[in-house]
Amino acid sequence: MRFDIITIFPGMFGSVFSGGVVKKALEKGLIEVHVHDLRDFTHDKHKQVDDRPFGGSQGMVLKLEPIFAAVKEIKSREEVPVYLLSPQGRKFDFNFAEELARQPQIILICGRYEGVDERVTQHLVTGEISIGDYVLTGGEPAAIVVVDAVSRFIRNVVGKMESVINDSFLEGLLDFPQFTRPRDFRGMKVPEVLFSGDHKKIGFWRRKKSLEKTWLIRPDLLKSRKLSSEEKKTLEEIKIEKKGKKDDAD
Ligand code: ADE
Repeated sequence: MRFDIITIFPGMFGSVFSGGVVKKALEKGLIEVHVHDLRDFTHDKHKQVDDRPFGGSQGMVLKLEPIFAAVKEIKSREEVPVYLLSPQGRKFDFNFAEELARQPQIILICGRYEGVDERVTQHLVTGEISIGDYVLTGGEPAAIVVVDAVSRFIRNVVGKMESVINDSFLEGLLDFPQFTRPRDFRGMKVPEVLFSGDHKKIGFWRRKKSLEKTWLIRPDLLKSRKLSSEEKKTLEEIKIEKKGKKDDAD
């Protein structure tokens, strides 16, 4: 899969892909990341990429001509999807990442916080992507997030596809807690059940912990998930056990 990123700050991508799983995927040729400087698509002496907004207000707006020119040059085929990273976009989540990973190429345009000429949104892009309900100074960190999360869905990028599929958000619950050696660190002990050797018991404990964590931290996820009868029963137990703690959190 090929990612093309259009940005006014190409330097921000300097070392982000030079470690870990993404680096290996690049080395193996499983993914390609091409960063394009928007200024290279300007035709004036000052390489101007932004201008004052019509109607007057604070800040500068990214001009549309260089963006249209960049997309035209980078698009290998008419069908290549083009996304603008912006806080107004569709929320980026597990399903969205998986959808994008089915494309052989995507183009990501990094906006600036004051804005991008609206005609880019209306006439050029396939959609807008937001990585969360907060405003970044620009789309660059969001593009990095998208490349990372989408890459995990490309075959052979992560050792076991199974681990990608089993990831918490596909199941609609947060992950259960993991522990490794030492068994006791300054009196902080690993739960006994994990040494029981009883895989059924361990499985039950892990599902319970997942439910508990989701209920405490992301109750919204439970609303959009159909719980099995075992999960419903476990959740009732958790609610009784944790009543005080949840009230404090609320
Ligand atoms: N640019 C500014 N804020 C953003 C956000 N939350 N997601 C994606 N791009 C952005």
